Amino acid sequence: MGKLFGLLGYKISHSMSPIMHNDAFKVEQLPHHYQLFDVDPEKLKDAVCGIKALNIAGFNITIPHKVAIMEYLDEIDETAQMIGAVNTVVNDNGKLIGYNTDSDGYLTSLLEVTGDRLKNMDVLVIGAGGASRAIVYSLAKYGVKSLVIANRTIEKAETIAQDCKHFMQIKTSTMKESEANLVNFDLIINTTSIGMSPNIDESPIEINELKENAVVSDIIYNPLKTKLLQDAEAKGATILNGVGMFVGQGALAFEKWTGIKPDRKRMEQIVLQQLGG
Ligand code: ATR
Repeated sequence: MGKLFGLLGYKISHSMSPIMHNDAFKVEQLPHHYQLFDVDPEKLKDAVCGIKALNIAGFNITIPHKVAIMEYLDEIDETAQMIGAVNTVVNDNGKLIGYNTDSDGYLTSLLEVTGDRLKNMDVLVIGAGGASRAIVYSLAKYGVKSLVIANRTIEKAETIAQDCKHFMQIKTSTMKESEANLVNFDLIINTTSIGMSPNIDESPIEINELKENAVVSDIIYNPLKTKLLQDAEAKGATILNGVGMFVGQGALAFEKWTGIKPDRKRMEQIVLQQLGG
């Protein structure tokens, strides 16, 4: 029998998740359906009750519910607890179990570019919000050579560093300091929303000089090439946009729901088509 899946968010009419997941269901010949559930923050608890009552088989969670959803779930896996946010829920016979697939989704897309080289990279992560937390967690657990978090509000960077200290020692810096030291990093990752459409002329940092063979990654996918990535490419860097992370988290969620590893390349093509890339 066909099962229902969906995305819980607020003002999410532009989400590409339904097209991506419904295509993957079709490819795998599963009679399931994925749809958007636009939920006002005040109605989140009611929405979760509705999900249980209607026996919705699984769902993703996006802005602004990724943290708030946690108190309404029956179980939260260790990674999601550590990150402090849930983006995927599995309905296991009425028990709602929360996961975070953003972190491994990002790591998978990054490894496609860096390969094993990642282990020897000096990494700068810009930003210290929810996305940064998921990415720093995955990098610290994987093990990179060194990791610095730069943020406008330094206290938030320090909290993430503290929470990941059992994996590795993480340093923090101001945006200005990191901007002046860009040449020391093999990998620079923007996790802030600076540069996202419609503010496409903005960039979190100015790039003057980059290390040879540097990789610059932006979790933004609209536009596909942010100003940061354009500037980095002009300086000879390898660039990675946010499509890989989006597809990566979706593919891992799909696998949790169905037990099937979907065709990630095809998912990526579907998303790129939507973005006009
Ligand atoms: P998300 O959960 O999507 O990561 P978030 O929690 O709102 O979003 O975090 C956004 C990040 O972008 C934060 O690190 C934020 O800096 P602060 O911690 O100082 O708020 C950063 N950010 C957003 N807009 C910014 C701006 N105009 N200049 C500098 N940093 C900005």
